[in-house]
Amino acid sequence: MSCELTSNANHTKSSKWGLFFVSVTGGLATVLSVICIPFVSPALRKVCLPYVPATTKQVDNIINALSGRKGTLIDLGSGDGRIVLAAAKTGFRAYGVELNPFLVAYSKMTALTQGLSSNASFFRGDLWKCNLANYSNVVIFGVSQMMTELESKFRFELETNTFIIACRFPLPNSKPLATIGHGIDTVWVYKMPLENIDS
Ligand SMILES: C[S@@+](CC[C@H](N)C(=O)[O-])C[C@H]1O[C@@H](n2cnc3c(N)ncnc32)[C@H](O)[C@@H]1O
Repeated sequence: MSCELTSNANHTKSSKWGLFFVSVTGGLATVLSVICIPFVSPALRKVCLPYVPATTKQVDNIINALSGRKGTLIDLGSGDGRIVLAAAKTGFRAYGVELNPFLVAYSKMTALTQGLSSNASFFRGDLWKCNLANYSNVVIFGVSQMMTELESKFRFELETNTFIIACRFPLPNSKPLATIGHGIDTVWVYKMPLENIDS
């Protein structure tokens, strides 16, 4: 009889542990999925633009390309905000548009901790739906498949004298003012109105 009671008590104890274990692993799996979805979902879009942060050299090249410039700047697909923050440090009123809400939250937090919140703003949005008319400098670290469509968007929306800094992939039909850096850190500098490559 006492043996039976002990075995029942042990059984109840182990099923409680089992339930606890299933709840914890299930909860962790759900949290991980929720975090991963925004990182994976760009791959399901018409143009797959994954999260690949700019290298330190690339950011330096962008800042060099912008020397002598001022005003507003937007980074299209701002990731963890490193380009926007670097530009804000050099005096630009800098903005980042980014699809991934975690990266937007992280960027805002970094801006706050670095005391740059008044010069660096981040918002969640689709770069294709963002009207670029009010920005005097535009930065894009994109992928080659998007550059032709983006070039048309620039031609349509950007004001004369706006600077465009394209990282890693150039605008396919436009002549750059300058090319800075080498290999994966290369940036191409353009000025509106864009000049055709064959003119
Ligand atoms: C190559 S990463 C560049 C990140 C950042 N600009 C940098 O250089 O460190 C591209 C970023 O664009 C974001 N992205 C992808 N599609 C987007 C879209 N349609 N609108 C806004 N952001 C997008 C991705 O989530 C990713 O963070």
